[in-house]
Amino acid sequence: MENSNRPKLEIRDLKVEYYTKTQTTVALEKVQLSVADGEFVSVVGPSGCGKSTLLKVVSGLLQPAEGAAYIDGQMVQGVPDQVGMVFQNDALLPWKTAFDNVRLPLEIKGLPRDEQIREAERLLKMVGLEGFRDYHPKQLSGGMRKRVALARTFAYDPDIYLMDEPFGPLDAQTRVKIGEEFLKIWEKVGKSVLFITHDIEEAIALSDRVIVMSARPGRIKAEFKINLKRPRPFYDIRFDPVFKELQREIWNQMSNEI
Ligand SMILES: Nc1ncnc2c1ncn2[C@@H]1O[C@H](COP(=O)(O)OP(=O)(O)OP(=O)(O)O)[C@@H](O)[C@H]1O
Ligand SMILES: [Mg+2]
Repeated sequence: MENSNRPKLEIRDLKVEYYTKTQTTVALEKVQLSVADGEFVSVVGPSGCGKSTLLKVVSGLLQPAEGAAYIDGQMVQGVPDQVGMVFQNDALLPWKTAFDNVRLPLEIKGLPRDEQIREAERLLKMVGLEGFRDYHPKQLSGGMRKRVALARTFAYDPDIYLMDEPFGPLDAQTRVKIGEEFLKIWEKVGKSVLFITHDIEEAIALSDRVIVMSARPGRIKAEFKINLKRPRPFYDIRFDPVFKELQREIWNQMSNEI
């Protein structure tokens, strides 16, 4: 039976170290974090503080030195099938079209072919690329490639979305456009999200909670509940006084770390 009080994702007493021939780097220390079912949590923090490391532990790609991550109460060991990950430098398969990149996870899931086609078409439309289904990644702009990558993640439809700077190094305008689309879609599907960004405004606009990490070794330094109503306008919410106050407080926490 589902236990509704149990967090979807829980990280307990996490410590992660990297070893090279000459030194040991402590990337994360004493990290405690939980994400409720359907909750959107963002993590912000200075470059190199261990944000990507945190996601790699949750997605089972990295073994911690101490502590562990738990999904539905089960310790993560190896890659769990409930998670879907968008990496910091996400690559599409260059030899496949936009359409086939989105369709692939549906094929892996074993959906009948006509359903794969219907769903991939729906998702491409959702990210505004229905006119580009037969384009290959190199024929798309950087922002369009990111949108295909997002559509592909929605095709996996995981229980937990793990997203590492998913909007990447996009220009401000495209970033807002994609953020807007993503928020609209997420508000409909309502899955748990652990979202990494260095953009405070993006974090507030999207999240139920924003976590600030300290400089390396990364620890959780502060936590902010984002009490802004949903659905939210991804851009215009920035003019809300509550937003502005949160932005100031989070920036204060962050600026001490740089
Ligand atoms: N494979 C590795 N081997 C050794 N050290 C590593 C490795 N990967 C990461 N590190 C170190 O761990 C620390 C955290 O790296 P991580 O990539 O998690 O940072 P981040 O918060 O995601 O940074 P950014 O915001 O720049 O993406 C850094 O000091 C980095 O040098
Ligand atoms: Mg990173």
